[in-house]
Amino acid sequence: MTWFYDPLRTYEDNYSHGPFGSWAEVAADAVTGSGGDVTDRGAPAHTFLGHPVHRPFGIPAGPLVNAAFCEAALAHAFDIAVYKTVRTGAHPTHPFPNCLAVTTDGPLDPDRLDTLVAGADLDAARSISNSFGVPSRDPDKWQPDMSRAVAAAGPGQVLVGSYQGTRTGGGEDAYVADHVRAATLCVEAGAPVLEMNLSCPNEGTGHLLCFDTELVTRIAGAVKDAVGDVPLVLKLAHFASQPALEEFLAATAPIVDGYAAINTVPARLVTPAGDQALPGWGREVAGVCGEAIGPAAVAMVRRLAQWRVDAAAQFAIVGVGGVMGLRDVAAHVAAGADAVMSATGAMIDPELGRRVAAASWPV
Ligand SMILES: Cc1cc2nc3c(=O)[nH]c(=O)nc-3n(C[C@H](O)[C@H](O)[C@H](O)COP(=O)(O)O)c2cc1C
Repeated sequence: MTWFYDPLRTYEDNYSHGPFGSWAEVAADAVTGSGGDVTDRGAPAHTFLGHPVHRPFGIPAGPLVNAAFCEAALAHAFDIAVYKTVRTGAHPTHPFPNCLAVTTDGPLDPDRLDTLVAGADLDAARSISNSFGVPSRDPDKWQPDMSRAVAAAGPGQVLVGSYQGTRTGGGEDAYVADHVRAATLCVEAGAPVLEMNLSCPNEGTGHLLCFDTELVTRIAGAVKDAVGDVPLVLKLAHFASQPALEEFLAATAPIVDGYAAINTVPARLVTPAGDQALPGWGREVAGVCGEAIGPAAVAMVRRLAQWRVDAAAQFAIVGVGGVMGLRDVAAHVAAGADAVMSATGAMIDPELGRRVAAASWPV
């Protein structure tokens, strides 16, 4: 296993001892300020939400679980590093395992809930499950660590702070306030760009926050009032309904600075014998990411870009999903993405950032 996030180890093991594989050594170097060989790349030729970047390419929220992972990613020319989603309080991880190899017949149809066999050899995986439950340390712990990650971004690189709100039983006002607090904590930690995760199955996969336009509009407005000029990106799931997507964009585009799409595509995961693949209540259905969601992700980027033209709106589009190599980066850019990110593909190929850095852009 050469992955920098090792899915054969627990989340805690990864957090405490990672990154692994070829990133292990560089991460140690990076702490002393000498990490990586990405030091002389000339002047950054692109911008991402007002920040100069060498390449508008990086790793989305998830695999970079703390500063050590972010440092290694930046040292490996992933010029946009998203610190894994944090919360306003400590939150436990779903039981191990979290990432299983998922076998598909081809691209997933995001409008259908497929039943897929999970648990094959991870070394041969192209698509995986992602079932963590969005764990978080307390802000006392993650704030200094996020600050360390922010400081690791060199010239032409940027660190994005991802966060999400937690329902604490205090009703909608408390939920809005929790988002504002999470965003403010990230800004206090120095995050120059924010991403709000609206696509985590908080209350079941059918009720993702991004499908509640009214509530998201209220939350995004409150967050923007609190964080001022710090750019805010909304992380979306795939929208089945075009009218719902258009209504969502019309309401939120005047408030926010960009959209990242997509998060994982849900599927029912079973063992070869047909049993539930991931242990525990509420885990029959889990998010699938990697190669199988590429076409769904590119299609969603294309719809965002088309609406941006039709509405003469201005916002950044971050293409996420199924980016396994340079061809997939090109597909996202051709669909209208201003920046592209890879989670599963980067985990499998930790040198993907350097290969993108060595290629021209658009790829
Ligand atoms: C290990 C792992 C953990 C993830 N955790 C998060 C998360 O905390 N927040 C989030 O918004 N997305 C999370 N994601 C989703 C990714 O950001 C991305 O949207 C998804 O994996 C699709 O991209 P991919 O096909 O390149 O993997 C995670 C993905 C992976 C693989």
